Amino acid sequence: MKVLIATDKPFAKVAVDGIRKEIEAAGYELALLEKYTEKKQLLDAVKDANAIIIRSDIIDAEVLDAAKDLKIVVRAGAGYDNVDLDSATAHGVCVMNTPGQNSNAVAELALGLMVFAVRNFYNGTSGTELMGKKLGIHAYGNVGRNVARVARGFGMEIYAYDAFCPKEVIEKDGAKAVDSAEELYATCDVVSLHIPATAETKNSINYALLNKMPKGAMLVNTARKEVINEAELIKLMEDRVDFKYVTDIMPSAHAELAEKFAARYFSTPKKMGAQTAEANINAGIAAANQIVGFFKDGCEKFRVNK
Ligand code: 3PG
Repeated sequence: MKVLIATDKPFAKVAVDGIRKEIEAAGYELALLEKYTEKKQLLDAVKDANAIIIRSDIIDAEVLDAAKDLKIVVRAGAGYDNVDLDSATAHGVCVMNTPGQNSNAVAELALGLMVFAVRNFYNGTSGTELMGKKLGIHAYGNVGRNVARVARGFGMEIYAYDAFCPKEVIEKDGAKAVDSAEELYATCDVVSLHIPATAETKNSINYALLNKMPKGAMLVNTARKEVINEAELIKLMEDRVDFKYVTDIMPSAHAELAEKFAARYFSTPKKMGAQTAEANINAGIAAANQIVGFFKDGCEKFRVNK
């Protein structure tokens, strides 16, 4: 059995060592394709793979066609919008994710971006504090819950909206559950986005929603760039000189945002929310164990396609 780690953005070495240990203990072989620059390298590497561990790497119909012996793809992480699920199903390939394994890392980065932004990107001028500010958590999944936990330590007042999470779950954590995204944005000084990129959410963060936020508002995006309507975000930031946008996913309109709003906009150069040794170990080893469980016991827990 051959398991391929295909990561454009590599795991920490300690995580790769841990994955290797699990895979080899099961009697399987591990292959590694890191930092590839061309799709052809991925197409070549998947040819004889029975299982693949990926991060945000794109697994589309062409990759699935090339991977003749493939049975399972595990996305070591939460979001699986990078995998063509219908094509995987048509190819008889099981797709899984590893929910929760990297969420603390992403949550810590979200808070780090908030501090960076309220302190004016560490430019030496007088900024503001997070204590006492109203934080809106948009989607209360694994990352949202960790953001709430860390933000509580900063003394923020926490609100959350999640169409799929019962209010009691949110309120049990001491956050206030609101009834709509509109209410969340109208209430909060800072909104932290944790929604996945789906047909329903793409472009959903638009001018009308953001313009409900109070004066001096900030949007923090460690989720996906596709959920933002970038043209409307730019228009909003032109109209609202008080508004800040900080993100871990470089927008398609990065150059324009950086040029127009240098003092109110920041993007990391490469998505790094989950880029910690701990998150890599947690998600990578979970992925390895899920592959072993799939082949040895037929376990399909965490399967995300039909
Ligand atoms: C996720 O969906 O798990 C996060 O966005 C992290 O993605 P990454 O593995 O590409 O860093």
